[in-house]
Amino acid sequence: MTRTLLIDNIAELTTNDDEHGGRLHDAAVVIEGDEIVWVGVASAAPAADERFDAAGRAVLPGWVDSHTHMVFAGDRTAEFEARMAGESYAAGGINVTVEATRAASDAQLEANLARLVSEARRGGTTTLETKTGYGLTVEDELRAAKLAGRHVDAVTFLGAHVVPAGQDPESYLDLVIGPMLAAVAPHVSAADVFCETGAFDEVASRRVLDAAARHGLATRVHGNQLGHGPGVRLAVSHGSLSVDHLGFLDDADVEALASSWGDGSGGSRGTVATVLPACDLSTRMPLAPARRLLDAGAVLAIASNCNPGTSYTSAMGFCVATAVLQMGLTIQEAVRAATLGGATALGMDAAGWRDPRGGAQREVGVIRLGARADLQLLEAPSVTHLAYRPGMPLTAAVWSAGERVV
Ligand code: NIG
Repeated sequence: MTRTLLIDNIAELTTNDDEHGGRLHDAAVVIEGDEIVWVGVASAAPAADERFDAAGRAVLPGWVDSHTHMVFAGDRTAEFEARMAGESYAAGGINVTVEATRAASDAQLEANLARLVSEARRGGTTTLETKTGYGLTVEDELRAAKLAGRHVDAVTFLGAHVVPAGQDPESYLDLVIGPMLAAVAPHVSAADVFCETGAFDEVASRRVLDAAARHGLATRVHGNQLGHGPGVRLAVSHGSLSVDHLGFLDDADVEALASSWGDGSGGSRGTVATVLPACDLSTRMPLAPARRLLDAGAVLAIASNCNPGTSYTSAMGFCVATAVLQMGLTIQEAVRAATLGGATALGMDAAGWRDPRGGAQREVGVIRLGARADLQLLEAPSVTHLAYRPGMPLTAAVWSAGERVV
Protein backbone atom coordinates (compact mmCIF):
# COMPACT_ATOMS: atom_id res chain seq x y z
CA MET A 1 0.00 0.00 0.00
CA THR A 2 1.21 3.53 -0.78
CA ARG A 3 2.43 5.38 2.30
CA THR A 4 0.93 8.73 3.29
CA LEU A 5 2.83 11.85 4.30
CA LEU A 6 1.37 14.63 6.45
CA ILE A 7 2.96 18.07 6.09
CA ASP A 8 1.64 20.19 8.93
CA ASN A 9 2.39 23.29 10.95
CA ILE A 10 2.19 25.34 7.72
CA ALA A 11 1.83 29.04 8.59
CA GLU A 12 0.56 29.98 5.12
CA LEU A 13 -0.57 27.51 2.46
CA THR A 14 -1.09 28.95 -1.03
CA THR A 15 -3.48 26.56 -2.74
CA ASN A 16 -4.80 28.57 -5.74
CA ASP A 17 -8.10 26.86 -4.95
CA ASP A 18 -10.80 29.53 -5.15
CA GLU A 19 -12.96 27.52 -2.79
CA HIS A 20 -11.12 28.99 0.20
CA GLY A 21 -9.82 32.21 -1.31
CA GLY A 22 -6.61 30.72 -2.66
CA ARG A 23 -4.83 30.30 0.66
CA LEU A 24 -5.14 28.88 4.17
CA HIS A 25 -3.40 29.68 7.43
CA ASP A 26 -2.27 27.14 10.09
CA ALA A 27 -2.76 24.46 7.48
CA ALA A 28 -1.78 20.90 6.61
CA VAL A 29 -1.59 18.74 3.48
CA VAL A 30 -1.60 14.95 3.11
CA ILE A 31 0.10 13.28 0.16
CA GLU A 32 -0.39 9.68 -0.96
CA GLY A 33 1.90 8.54 -3.75
CA ASP A 34 1.92 11.29 -6.39
CA GLU A 35 -1.43 12.73 -5.32
CA ILE A 36 -2.74 15.28 -2.83
CA VAL A 37 -5.41 13.50 -0.78
CA TRP A 38 -6.21 16.01 1.98
CA VAL A 39 -5.95 19.81 2.46
CA GLY A 40 -7.27 21.83 5.40
CA VAL A 41 -6.59 23.44 8.74
CA ALA A 42 -3.91 21.61 10.70
CA SER A 43 -6.13 20.99 13.73
CA ALA A 44 -8.41 18.78 11.58
CA ALA A 45 -5.65 16.84 9.78
CA PRO A 46 -5.94 13.05 9.66
CA ALA A 47 -3.13 10.74 10.83
CA ALA A 48 -0.58 9.62 8.24
CA ASP A 49 2.30 7.14 8.04
CA GLU A 50 4.92 9.90 8.13
CA ARG A 51 4.98 13.51 9.25
CA PHE A 52 6.96 16.54 8.05
CA ASP A 53 6.89 19.56 10.36
CA ALA A 54 6.84 22.76 8.26
CA ALA A 55 7.71 24.65 11.45
CA GLY A 56 5.64 27.74 10.76
CA ARG A 57 6.89 28.24 7.22
CA ALA A 58 5.01 28.80 3.94
CA VAL A 59 4.07 26.09 1.44
CA LEU A 60 2.90 26.73 -2.12
CA PRO A 61 2.61 24.78 -5.38
CA GLY A 62 5.90 24.11 -7.16
CA TRP A 63 6.60 26.61 -9.95
CA VAL A 64 5.18 25.73 -13.36
CA ASP A 65 7.70 27.11 -15.85
CA SER A 66 5.80 27.10 -19.14
CA HIS A 67 8.45 28.63 -21.43
CA THR A 68 12.08 27.51 -21.68
CA HIS A 69 14.60 26.59 -24.39
CA MET A 70 16.86 24.18 -22.52
CA VAL A 71 18.10 21.88 -25.28
CA PHE A 72 21.21 23.68 -26.43
CA ALA A 73 24.99 23.72 -26.34
CA GLY A 74 27.44 26.60 -26.16
CA ASP A 75 27.47 29.99 -24.56
CA ARG A 76 26.59 33.56 -25.57
CA THR A 77 28.49 35.53 -22.93
CA ALA A 78 30.09 37.77 -25.56
CA GLU A 79 26.69 38.68 -27.02
CA PHE A 80 25.39 39.45 -23.54
CA GLU A 81 28.40 41.67 -22.80
CA ALA A 82 27.87 43.53 -26.07
CA ARG A 83 24.23 44.07 -25.15
CA MET A 84 25.15 45.43 -21.75
CA ALA A 85 27.52 47.78 -23.58
CA GLY A 86 24.63 49.16 -25.61
CA GLU A 87 23.95 46.82 -28.54
CA SER A 88 20.40 45.63 -29.06
CA TYR A 89 19.11 42.06 -29.21
CA ALA A 90 18.38 40.60 -32.66
CA ALA A 91 16.87 37.23 -33.56
CA GLY A 92 19.99 36.35 -35.57
CA GLY A 93 21.92 35.43 -32.40
CA ILE A 94 19.90 32.22 -32.33
CA ASN A 95 22.05 30.87 -35.18
CA VAL A 96 25.14 30.97 -32.95
CA THR A 97 23.47 28.48 -30.62
CA VAL A 98 22.16 26.44 -33.55
CA GLU A 99 25.73 25.91 -34.74
CA ALA A 100 26.96 24.86 -31.28
CA THR A 101 23.96 22.59 -30.72
CA ARG A 102 24.36 20.76 -34.01
CA ALA A 103 28.05 20.19 -33.21
CA ALA A 104 27.36 18.74 -29.74
CA SER A 105 27.15 15.01 -29.08
CA ASP A 106 23.95 13.48 -27.69
CA ALA A 107 25.72 12.98 -24.36
CA GLN A 108 26.82 16.63 -24.17
CA LEU A 109 23.34 17.92 -24.97
CA GLU A 110 21.72 15.62 -22.46
CA ALA A 111 24.21 16.50 -19.71
CA ASN A 112 23.54 20.21 -20.23
CA LEU A 113 19.79 19.68 -20.17
CA ALA A 114 20.00 17.56 -17.01
CA ARG A 115 22.09 20.29 -15.34
CA LEU A 116 19.54 22.97 -16.22
CA VAL A 117 16.60 20.85 -15.07
CA SER A 118 18.31 20.16 -11.78
CA GLU A 119 19.03 23.90 -11.27
CA ALA A 120 15.36 24.68 -11.93
CA ARG A 121 14.25 22.02 -9.47
CA ARG A 122 16.51 23.39 -6.75
CA GLY A 123 14.75 26.71 -7.24
CA GLY A 124 11.32 25.17 -6.66
CA THR A 125 10.21 24.31 -10.21
CA THR A 126 8.21 21.08 -10.44
CA THR A 127 6.73 21.37 -13.94
CA LEU A 128 8.85 22.33 -16.93
CA GLU A 129 8.14 22.95 -20.57
CA THR A 130 11.01 23.12 -23.01
CA LYS A 131 11.26 23.75 -26.72
CA THR A 132 13.32 22.40 -29.58
CA GLY A 133 14.51 25.14 -31.91
CA TYR A 134 18.30 25.05 -31.86
CA GLY A 135 18.60 22.11 -34.30
CA LEU A 136 16.62 23.34 -37.31
CA THR A 137 17.24 20.21 -39.42
CA VAL A 138 14.87 17.23 -39.36
CA GLU A 139 17.51 15.14 -37.63
CA ASP A 140 18.54 17.75 -35.05
CA GLU A 141 14.98 18.79 -34.17
CA LEU A 142 14.00 15.14 -33.72
CA ARG A 143 17.02 14.57 -31.51
CA ALA A 144 16.12 17.57 -29.36
CA ALA A 145 12.46 16.50 -29.00
CA LYS A 146 13.35 12.93 -27.98
CA LEU A 147 15.98 14.09 -25.53
CA ALA A 148 13.70 16.70 -23.96
CA GLY A 149 10.93 14.12 -23.55
CA ARG A 150 13.16 12.20 -21.15
CA HIS A 151 13.63 15.19 -18.82
CA VAL A 152 10.66 17.57 -18.85
CA ASP A 153 6.85 17.49 -18.60
CA ALA A 154 5.95 19.18 -21.88
CA VAL A 155 7.94 19.43 -25.11
CA THR A 156 7.17 22.05 -27.77
CA PHE A 157 8.38 21.91 -31.38
CA LEU A 158 10.03 25.18 -32.44
CA GLY A 159 11.41 24.39 -35.88
CA ALA A 160 10.06 27.84 -36.79
CA HIS A 161 12.52 29.62 -34.49
CA VAL A 162 14.56 31.37 -37.16
CA VAL A 163 15.56 30.62 -40.75
CA PRO A 164 18.97 28.91 -40.47
CA ALA A 165 21.90 30.91 -41.83
CA GLY A 166 22.25 30.62 -45.58
CA GLN A 167 18.87 28.97 -46.21
CA ASP A 168 16.05 30.19 -48.41
CA PRO A 169 13.10 31.25 -46.19
CA GLU A 170 10.37 29.70 -48.39
CA SER A 171 12.02 26.31 -48.72
CA TYR A 172 12.90 26.27 -45.02
CA LEU A 173 9.25 26.93 -44.13
CA ASP A 174 8.21 24.05 -46.41
CA LEU A 175 10.67 21.81 -44.59
CA VAL A 176 9.35 22.88 -41.16
CA ILE A 177 5.67 22.33 -41.91
CA GLY A 178 6.34 19.21 -43.98
CA PRO A 179 8.95 16.56 -43.16
CA MET A 180 10.24 18.20 -39.95
CA LEU A 181 6.83 18.47 -38.31
CA ALA A 182 5.89 14.96 -39.44
CA ALA A 183 9.03 13.54 -37.83
CA VAL A 184 8.83 15.49 -34.59
CA ALA A 185 5.04 15.56 -33.96
CA PRO A 186 4.88 12.11 -32.28
CA HIS A 187 7.35 13.34 -29.64
CA VAL A 188 5.84 16.71 -28.68
CA SER A 189 2.53 18.08 -27.44
CA ALA A 190 2.63 21.55 -29.02
CA ALA A 191 4.25 23.68 -31.70
CA ASP A 192 5.47 27.25 -31.43
CA VAL A 193 6.55 29.95 -33.89
CA PHE A 194 8.72 33.05 -33.43
CA CYS A 195 6.40 35.57 -35.11
CA GLU A 196 8.67 38.60 -35.33
CA THR A 197 10.63 40.78 -37.72
CA GLY A 198 13.81 38.83 -38.49
CA ALA A 199 12.09 35.48 -37.89
CA PHE A 200 8.63 34.57 -39.35
CA ASP A 201 5.98 37.00 -40.59
CA GLU A 202 2.24 36.64 -40.01
CA VAL A 203 1.52 34.57 -43.13
CA ALA A 204 4.37 32.16 -42.51
CA SER A 205 3.50 31.92 -38.81
CA ARG A 206 -0.11 31.07 -39.60
CA ARG A 207 1.04 28.29 -41.91
CA VAL A 208 3.09 26.83 -39.05
CA LEU A 209 0.14 26.92 -36.64
CA ASP A 210 -2.27 25.45 -39.21
CA ALA A 211 0.13 22.61 -39.99
CA ALA A 212 0.63 21.90 -36.27
CA ALA A 213 -3.12 21.75 -35.73
CA ARG A 214 -3.45 19.26 -38.59
CA HIS A 215 -1.04 17.05 -36.64
CA GLY A 216 -3.24 17.34 -33.55
CA LEU A 217 -0.79 19.59 -31.68
CA ALA A 218 -1.64 22.50 -29.43
CA THR A 219 0.01 25.76 -30.43
CA ARG A 220 1.80 28.70 -28.85
CA VAL A 221 3.38 31.83 -30.27
CA HIS A 222 6.42 33.98 -29.46
CA GLY A 223 4.89 37.38 -30.09
CA ASN A 224 5.34 41.12 -29.63
CA GLN A 225 8.86 40.67 -28.20
CA LEU A 226 10.90 43.08 -30.30
CA GLY A 227 8.19 45.44 -31.47
CA HIS A 228 4.48 45.83 -32.17
CA GLY A 229 3.23 43.10 -34.50
CA PRO A 230 0.70 40.42 -35.33
CA GLY A 231 1.74 37.78 -32.73
CA VAL A 232 -1.09 38.31 -30.24
CA ARG A 233 -3.74 38.66 -32.94
CA LEU A 234 -2.53 35.46 -34.59
CA ALA A 235 -2.39 33.42 -31.38
CA VAL A 236 -5.85 34.48 -30.21
CA SER A 237 -7.49 33.94 -33.59
CA HIS A 238 -5.88 30.51 -33.78
CA GLY A 239 -6.95 29.49 -30.28
CA SER A 240 -3.34 29.00 -29.19
CA LEU A 241 -2.69 27.97 -25.59
CA SER A 242 -0.46 30.97 -25.00
CA VAL A 243 1.33 33.91 -26.56
CA ASP A 244 4.61 34.73 -24.88
CA HIS A 245 6.86 37.82 -24.40
CA LEU A 246 4.38 40.71 -24.96
CA GLY A 247 6.68 43.69 -24.45
CA PHE A 248 4.89 45.72 -27.13
CA LEU A 249 1.09 45.65 -26.86
CA ASP A 250 -1.54 48.03 -28.13
CA ASP A 251 -5.04 48.29 -26.68
CA ALA A 252 -6.48 45.88 -29.25
CA ASP A 253 -3.93 43.21 -28.24
CA VAL A 254 -4.80 43.54 -24.57
CA GLU A 255 -8.50 43.45 -25.35
CA ALA A 256 -8.09 40.38 -27.60
CA LEU A 257 -6.26 38.48 -24.85
CA ALA A 258 -8.84 39.38 -22.23
CA SER A 259 -11.88 38.63 -24.37
CA SER A 260 -10.46 35.29 -25.50
CA TRP A 261 -11.67 34.01 -22.10
CA GLY A 262 -15.30 35.00 -22.75
CA ASP A 263 -17.06 36.43 -19.73
CA GLY A 264 -14.49 34.89 -17.35
CA SER A 265 -16.93 32.28 -16.07
CA GLY A 266 -14.67 29.49 -17.33
CA GLY A 267 -17.03 28.55 -20.15
CA SER A 268 -14.60 29.41 -22.90
CA ARG A 269 -10.92 28.63 -23.00
CA GLY A 270 -8.72 31.45 -24.23
CA THR A 271 -5.08 32.26 -24.83
CA VAL A 272 -2.81 32.77 -21.82
CA ALA A 273 -0.66 35.93 -21.78
CA THR A 274 2.80 34.75 -20.73
CA VAL A 275 5.27 37.36 -19.52
CA LEU A 276 9.00 36.69 -19.18
CA PRO A 277 10.43 39.23 -16.72
CA ALA A 278 14.01 37.90 -16.69
CA CYS A 279 14.14 38.08 -20.50
CA ASP A 280 12.86 41.66 -20.53
CA LEU A 281 15.63 42.63 -18.10
CA SER A 282 18.35 40.64 -19.85
CA THR A 283 17.53 42.16 -23.24
CA ARG A 284 16.91 45.63 -21.79
CA MET A 285 13.50 45.64 -23.46
CA PRO A 286 10.35 47.20 -21.98
CA LEU A 287 8.78 45.11 -19.24
CA ALA A 288 5.59 43.42 -20.46
CA PRO A 289 2.50 45.26 -19.14
CA ALA A 290 1.43 42.52 -16.74
CA ARG A 291 -0.63 44.89 -14.56
CA ARG A 292 -2.55 46.18 -17.57
CA LEU A 293 -3.21 42.64 -18.79
CA LEU A 294 -4.56 41.49 -15.44
CA ASP A 295 -6.69 44.60 -15.02
CA ALA A 296 -8.22 44.00 -18.44
CA GLY A 297 -9.15 40.42 -17.46
CA ALA A 298 -6.45 38.42 -19.23
CA VAL A 299 -5.14 35.15 -17.77
CA LEU A 300 -1.48 35.67 -16.95
CA ALA A 301 1.49 33.30 -16.69
CA ILE A 302 5.04 34.09 -15.61
CA ALA A 303 7.83 31.93 -17.02
CA SER A 304 11.64 32.04 -16.99
CA ASN A 305 12.38 31.66 -20.74
CA CYS A 306 15.64 29.97 -19.72
CA ASN A 307 17.88 30.02 -22.84
CA PRO A 308 21.49 31.01 -23.59
CA GLY A 309 20.60 34.15 -25.57
CA THR A 310 17.97 36.27 -23.89
CA SER A 311 17.42 34.86 -20.40
CA TYR A 312 20.02 32.50 -19.00
CA THR A 313 18.16 31.75 -15.77
CA SER A 314 15.48 29.37 -14.57
CA ALA A 315 15.02 31.27 -11.28
CA MET A 316 11.24 31.55 -11.03
CA GLY A 317 11.53 33.18 -7.59
CA PHE A 318 13.50 35.99 -9.24
CA CYS A 319 10.85 36.29 -12.00
CA VAL A 320 8.11 36.51 -9.37
CA ALA A 321 10.04 39.16 -7.42
CA THR A 322 10.56 41.20 -10.60
CA ALA A 323 6.87 40.93 -11.50
CA VAL A 324 6.01 42.33 -8.08
CA LEU A 325 8.73 44.96 -7.75
CA GLN A 326 8.77 46.21 -11.33
CA MET A 327 5.60 45.11 -13.10
CA GLY A 328 3.17 46.18 -10.42
CA LEU A 329 1.64 42.82 -9.47
CA THR A 330 0.73 41.88 -5.92
CA ILE A 331 2.69 38.96 -4.55
CA GLN A 332 -0.38 36.71 -4.70
CA GLU A 333 -1.02 37.63 -8.34
CA ALA A 334 2.58 36.89 -9.27
CA VAL A 335 2.67 33.58 -7.41
CA ARG A 336 -0.58 32.50 -9.04
CA ALA A 337 0.76 33.43 -12.51
CA ALA A 338 3.96 31.41 -11.90
CA THR A 339 2.02 28.33 -10.77
CA LEU A 340 -1.60 28.01 -11.94
CA GLY A 341 -1.01 30.49 -14.79
CA GLY A 342 1.82 28.33 -16.13
CA ALA A 343 -0.33 25.21 -15.75
CA THR A 344 -3.10 26.87 -17.78
CA ALA A 345 -0.59 27.88 -20.45
CA LEU A 346 0.44 24.23 -20.72
CA GLY A 347 -3.11 22.85 -20.62
CA MET A 348 -2.19 21.08 -17.39
CA ASP A 349 -4.84 22.78 -15.27
CA ALA A 350 -8.08 21.05 -14.26
CA ALA A 351 -10.01 22.21 -17.30
CA GLY A 352 -7.05 21.77 -19.59
CA TRP A 353 -6.44 19.90 -22.72
CA ARG A 354 -4.83 16.53 -22.15
CA ASP A 355 -1.87 15.29 -24.11
CA PRO A 356 -3.21 12.16 -25.86
CA ARG A 357 0.29 10.72 -25.75
CA GLY A 358 1.00 11.69 -22.16
CA GLY A 359 -1.34 9.22 -20.48
CA ALA A 360 -3.41 10.24 -17.48
CA GLN A 361 -2.10 13.49 -16.04
CA ARG A 362 -2.95 15.12 -12.78
CA GLU A 363 -3.58 18.85 -12.69
CA VAL A 364 -0.62 20.94 -11.54
CA GLY A 365 -0.21 24.46 -10.15
CA VAL A 366 -2.78 23.96 -7.38
CA ILE A 367 -2.89 22.25 -4.01
CA ARG A 368 -6.21 20.45 -3.79
CA LEU A 369 -7.60 16.93 -3.81
CA GLY A 370 -6.47 14.89 -6.80
CA ALA A 371 -3.80 17.37 -7.93
CA ARG A 372 -0.22 16.19 -8.49
CA ALA A 373 1.68 16.44 -5.24
CA ASP A 374 4.07 19.21 -6.36
CA LEU A 375 4.89 21.50 -3.45
CA GLN A 376 7.61 23.82 -2.28
CA LEU A 377 8.42 24.88 1.25
CA LEU A 378 9.89 28.36 1.73
CA GLU A 379 12.40 29.36 4.37
CA ALA A 380 9.90 32.09 5.28
CA PRO A 381 6.50 32.42 6.92
CA SER A 382 4.73 33.76 3.80
CA VAL A 383 5.12 34.11 0.03
CA THR A 384 5.53 37.84 0.56
CA HIS A 385 9.17 37.14 1.41
CA LEU A 386 9.80 36.17 -2.24
CA ALA A 387 9.61 39.88 -3.12
CA TYR A 388 10.41 41.33 0.32
CA ARG A 389 13.75 39.45 0.32
CA PRO A 390 14.53 39.40 -3.43
CA GLY A 391 17.32 37.13 -4.56
CA MET A 392 17.54 35.18 -1.31
CA PRO A 393 17.68 31.36 -1.53
CA LEU A 394 14.27 30.75 0.04
CA THR A 395 13.54 27.26 -1.35
CA ALA A 396 13.79 24.97 1.69
CA ALA A 397 12.25 21.76 0.31
CA VAL A 398 10.53 20.56 -2.86
CA TRP A 399 8.22 17.60 -3.48
CA SER A 400 7.69 16.58 -7.10
CA ALA A 401 4.84 14.09 -7.69
CA GLY A 402 5.03 13.28 -4.00
CA GLU A 403 8.76 12.62 -3.99
CA ARG A 404 11.09 14.84 -1.99
CA VAL A 405 13.60 16.12 -4.56
CA VAL A 406 15.21 19.03 -2.70
O1 NIG B 1 12.29 33.39 -26.31
N1 NIG B 1 12.61 34.89 -29.05
C1 NIG B 1 12.99 33.85 -29.48
N2 NIG B 1 13.57 32.86 -28.81
C2 NIG B 1 14.23 33.01 -27.55
C3 NIG B 1 15.59 33.57 -27.71
C4 NIG B 1 16.50 32.58 -28.22
C5 NIG B 1 17.92 33.04 -28.41
O2 NIG B 1 18.25 34.22 -28.56
O3 NIG B 1 18.73 32.12 -28.40
C6 NIG B 1 13.39 33.84 -26.60
O4 NIG B 1 13.81 34.89 -26.15
